[in-house]
Amino acid sequence: MIKVSENVYWDGIRDWDLRLFHGHELSTHRGSTYNSYVIKDEKTVLVDTVWFPHKEAYLEKLQEDVGIENIDFIVINHNEPDHGGALDAIIGMRPEIPIYCTEQGEKIIRAHFHKDWNFKTVKTGDSINIGKNNLIFVEMKMIHWPDSMMTYLDHDKVLLSNDAFGQHYCTKSLFNDEVDQAEIYQEAIKYYANILTPFSAMIARKIDEVVAMDLDIRIIAPSHGVIWRENPLQIIETYAKWASGYSEDFAVIIYDTMYGATLRMAGAIEEGLASKGVKAKLYNCAVSDMSDLITEIFKANAIAIGSCTVNNSPLTSIVAITHEILAHKTAGKPYLTFGSFGWSGEAATYIDAELGKTKLKKAAEPVKLKYTPTKEDFKQCFEAGVKLAEAIKNDIQ
Ligand code: FEO
Repeated sequence: MIKVSENVYWDGIRDWDLRLFHGHELSTHRGSTYNSYVIKDEKTVLVDTVWFPHKEAYLEKLQEDVGIENIDFIVINHNEPDHGGALDAIIGMRPEIPIYCTEQGEKIIRAHFHKDWNFKTVKTGDSINIGKNNLIFVEMKMIHWPDSMMTYLDHDKVLLSNDAFGQHYCTKSLFNDEVDQAEIYQEAIKYYANILTPFSAMIARKIDEVVAMDLDIRIIAPSHGVIWRENPLQIIETYAKWASGYSEDFAVIIYDTMYGATLRMAGAIEEGLASKGVKAKLYNCAVSDMSDLITEIFKANAIAIGSCTVNNSPLTSIVAITHEILAHKTAGKPYLTFGSFGWSGEAATYIDAELGKTKLKKAAEPVKLKYTPTKEDFKQCFEAGVKLAEAIKNDIQ
C-alpha cells in the first residue's frame, strides 16, 4: 500500500499495458490505474475496487495488505465495472459486509450482480464517523453515471473524487508533484474532453456546490491516474475553465481524402485562416487517433470538417468523427464544412446538416469543389477560411 495521508492508503492496480478503454472507444496511450483506497481509522474502510480482469491480483494484494476480514465496510463511489468490478469477490468472502453507495448505486450494483447484499444508501451531506474522520458524501448524479459520488474525509482533508479529476495515466509515482507536468495536463484534458464534455453544464454547477460547502481540501485522490497532492485546487480551477466554453488559440481542420483534392481544400482554408492571424492544425481523420481528435476539437476555437463524396456520403472516418462531435455535445465554436466531389457532392452538405443539430455556430455555407479544382476554385476555400477566422474574432469580442 502507498500512504496518501495520515489515514488513507492507495491499494489499487497499475495497468501499464492498457491502450484501449471502454471497449475500443477511448485510447489510453499511457495506460491507466484503478485507484482503490483503504482508510485505516478506528474503522477500516475500503473505497472503490478495480476492474474485474484484475480481480484476482487485487484480492491477493488486499488480503496481504489489509486482510479482507478486517474491513468494516465498503464505500462504492461509482459502479462502472472499472471500480465496482471486484466487489463480488470481496462479498464472496464477507457476505454480510455493509456497502455504502447512493440509491442509484444500489440499483446499478443489483443490476450488475443480481444479489441482495447489505446495502446502505447515502445522499449528499450524509456522514459516517469512523474515528478521527467523518466520511462526508457528495452525490454527482450523471457526472458521468447516475450513481457517481465523492467521499470527503474531514480530518485527513482528502477528497476521494472517483472519476472526477482523473487521468488515464499509469506511472510508478502516484502523486502529481512527482510526474511530468506536460503529461499529466495532456492526460487530464484528454480524459475531460472524451468522458466529461457532455456533462459540462452539470460540472460547472457541481463545482459551485462543492465550493459552497467550504470543504478544506488538501488532497484530491481520483480513481484513475495520479493523486493531486501539490496545489490540489488547481485541478478544480482547471475543471471550472474546461466546463465553461473553454478554447485555446487555434482552429482544427479535419479531413479525409481519396485523391488529394479535399486535402488541398483543407490547405486553402488554412491559408484563409492564417491571412487573418488564426493558427490551425490539420489532421487526416483516417490515420488519426479518434480520442486525440476529440481532445483537439475540445481545445480548438473553431472546427472545419471535410470529406470527398463516395456513394453519396462522406468517407467513413468523417462520418465517425461527425457522430462523435454530436455525441460529445460539442458547442459554442464556429464551424465550416467542405469537400471535393465528382458528380453528386453530398458529403459536405451531410456534415453541415449533422453539425447543424449541435450548438456549434455555422460560419459559412459548405464549400464543394468538383474533380480537380483550379487555382480559381480554391479561392472559395480561402474565403471560407477567412469567414471562419472572422467568426472566431466575433466570438471573442
Ligand atoms: Fe472510471 Fe466511470 O469509471
